[in-house]
Amino acid sequence: MKWNSHQVKIYPTAQEAALQVAQRVAEVIREKQKRNQWAVLGLATGKTPVKVYEELIRLHQQEQLSFENVISFNLDEYFPMAATHPQSYHHFMQQQLFDQVNIPPEQTHIPKGDWSTDQLQEACLAYEERIKQVGGIDLQLLGIGKTGHIGFNEPGSSIDTTTRQVVLDPLTRQEAIADFGSLEQVPSQAITVGIETIAQAREIVLMAWNASKASIVQQAIQGPVSAAVPASYLQLWPQASFVLDQDTAALL
Ligand code: F6R
Repeated sequence: MKWNSHQVKIYPTAQEAALQVAQRVAEVIREKQKRNQWAVLGLATGKTPVKVYEELIRLHQQEQLSFENVISFNLDEYFPMAATHPQSYHHFMQQQLFDQVNIPPEQTHIPKGDWSTDQLQEACLAYEERIKQVGGIDLQLLGIGKTGHIGFNEPGSSIDTTTRQVVLDPLTRQEAIADFGSLEQVPSQAITVGIETIAQAREIVLMAWNASKASIVQQAIQGPVSAAVPASYLQLWPQASFVLDQDTAALL
């Protein structure tokens, strides 16, 4: 059963919230397995999903959760960025999930940070096409940035955007200094799926469990729907839910 639309689920701790999201992902994979169908997952990187991926790996190792029928599409990648760079989202996904479960590599997709400028537009279109070809995304996981971004759809992103090259908000780059070492080393651009790409997923779960996100989460859930806070678009989508821990929900 799908999680109820527009639901805001609040758990006492980040760990409990992450376990619930992992359970839901596992449920979708198993439901699809029973019907001999692909489970198409939209995946996020960053600190937030790490605990979810840890639990999925545990379910794979200890409870026979197979990823053979999973097709995944990641939200984004820095640009320009080599897949082998330790801060690339390609590297992150290999380390945090793909290397530790039985997902066939050809079933994983991540926008490439080394697409050349002249092939970029075509590659972005092909990414959208590939999602459609496999029947669309069943379950989309999202984090939220301090700017209110989902994927790397920064403030100003309109509702009809699709996969494209974007410029990162200064605050987003600031937040990434801890990972890259200095502001100069943080890429200033990225490739991201669009707001429309996300909206087309059949189920959307935005995860936030970090007290420093309490204000932006409050704006996303209770503020006006506006391009100024891209996560507020979720209020328009009946298939979207927010999963929070108590501290992050403090201002609701
Ligand atoms: C990552 C992504 C971003 C992050 C957001 C939160 O693929 O699309 O929107 O989800 O920046 O990042 P963390 O989880 O590191 O706080």
